[in-house]
Amino acid sequence: MITYKNISFQYSKNNVVINNLNLHVKERDIHGILGHNGAGKTTLFRLTLGLLKPQKGKILLGNNDISYMPTDNGLYENLTAFQNIEFRAKIFKVSQDVFNTEANLLLKQLHIFKRSNELVLKWSTGMKKRLALACALIANPKILILDEPTNGIDPESLNIVVNMLKKINQNGVTILLSSQDLNFISKACNYISIIQSGNLVYENSINVNTNIEDIYLKYTNSNVEE
Ligand SMILES: Nc1ncnc2c1ncn2[C@@H]1O[C@H](COP(=O)(O)OP(=O)(O)OP(=O)(O)O)[C@@H](O)[C@H]1O
Ligand SMILES: [Mg+2]
Repeated sequence: MITYKNISFQYSKNNVVINNLNLHVKERDIHGILGHNGAGKTTLFRLTLGLLKPQKGKILLGNNDISYMPTDNGLYENLTAFQNIEFRAKIFKVSQDVFNTEANLLLKQLHIFKRSNELVLKWSTGMKKRLALACALIANPKILILDEPTNGIDPESLNIVVNMLKKINQNGVTILLSSQDLNFISKACNYISIIQSGNLVYENSINVNTNIEDIYLKYTNSNVEE
């Protein structure tokens, strides 16, 4: 679905952020990208979306129907939740019929319907995350890219998000996400990759018995400043 072929990228000279990366995201996978702060996860997503261009290599996309949820949610705080999802639907040219049925359904499924006429700036962190997910889903994408979708989300809401991702995945959506939350990764993903300083250092399928923390610690070195 997404193939990265010998991708190298740097924002400026002598500052390699993605280093000759080869990776394939299979259709129908829920593929989690792990790595320390600054490893290159968000950069990889921006490259995938075409917002940045690699200096070397190619990215092959099997389908152009991509929705993206950025780390900072990409919401308009001075609009209501409902207006945010409406605005997103207009950008993606979602038909009025589809919007009428899907918008409220998504808001209800993500348990954020009741306050959807409030301005987003009044919402909590976790509610905004769920709204950002609803905004990404209203376009009915084939590929969903989520950059840290569960930051600040409580355990109950996390399960709501996991269930939502599994459901749309069963309906054919390929999901590529990044997260620092290994519990979320183990619940949501069937495949993980680990990036360390722009290098792919690990990739494999995972299942309920996989100890992701062990793998993560083994394949990443501490970058804590002294
Ligand atoms: N716009 C930019 N200009 C210059 N350097 C940048 C820019 N954006 C990111 N970088 C650098 O690129 C490297 C990778 O950053 P990136 O945001 O991709 O990491 P990340 O894995 O998403 O980290 P985090 O877990 O903190 O979100 C870092 O060294 C960062 O400082
Ligand atoms: Mg990031």
